[in-house]
Amino acid sequence: MASYLSSTLYSLSLTLILAALATANLPFSAHFVETKPTTTRKMTRLHFYFHDIVSGKNPTAIKIIGPKSLFGTTVVIDDPLTIDTKPDSLVVGRAQGLYAMASQHDSGLLMTINFVFTYGKYNGSALSVMGRNRVFDVVREMPVVGGSGVFRFARGYALASTVRYNLKTGNAVVEYNVTVMHD
Ligand SMILES: *[C@@H]1O[C@H](CO)[C@@H](O)[C@H](O)[C@H]1NC(C)=O
Ligand SMILES: *[C@@H]1O[C@H](CO)[C@@H](O)[C@H](O)[C@H]1NC(C)=O
Repeated sequence: MASYLSSTLYSLSLTLILAALATANLPFSAHFVETKPTTTRKMTRLHFYFHDIVSGKNPTAIKIIGPKSLFGTTVVIDDPLTIDTKPDSLVVGRAQGLYAMASQHDSGLLMTINFVFTYGKYNGSALSVMGRNRVFDVVREMPVVGGSGVFRFARGYALASTVRYNLKTGNAVVEYNVTVMHD
């Protein structure tokens, strides 16, 4: 019994010393492994096209702040999301929120957007995206930071790729693949 106790104490103090040494080597970060009871979560993949219409009679994107430089320009959007690249294809939701030219050195936008779904079993549910979007990159990744309705507790990511961009009008069609884990 006593030897069991002393060996336990010995291994405990060794663990503490090792932990202290590890901490000393990591002045500003520490890594922990947390074991959680496993719960079943759902994974959903969504695929749709985002239509950013900045000109014409019925724009869906309106510049609300427009300094002389591009940097700082802020646009509020209510862009349709469709199942196909054609703007008159089935609308499955809308992208509502804003994007701002938040980078002085490249085309990096700050996106704060809700994807509000209006079709099928996702009707009334939404996903919130907040991330950086360097619009001239072929594929951009943005975090999905939350959701509501069927997407309650959602976390995930969105991949975006421009399908069409009209230099003259500024209108764009962007393909989105969104992958989320949710309850
Ligand atoms: C989505 O839900 C709204 C409100 O409940 C309803 O009016 C609308 O018809 C629904 N749309 C579809 C396509 O199911
Ligand atoms: C989205 O997924 C489809 C099908 O897997 C793929 O062809 C397409 O390149 C993807 N696009 C993006 C932007 O990830």
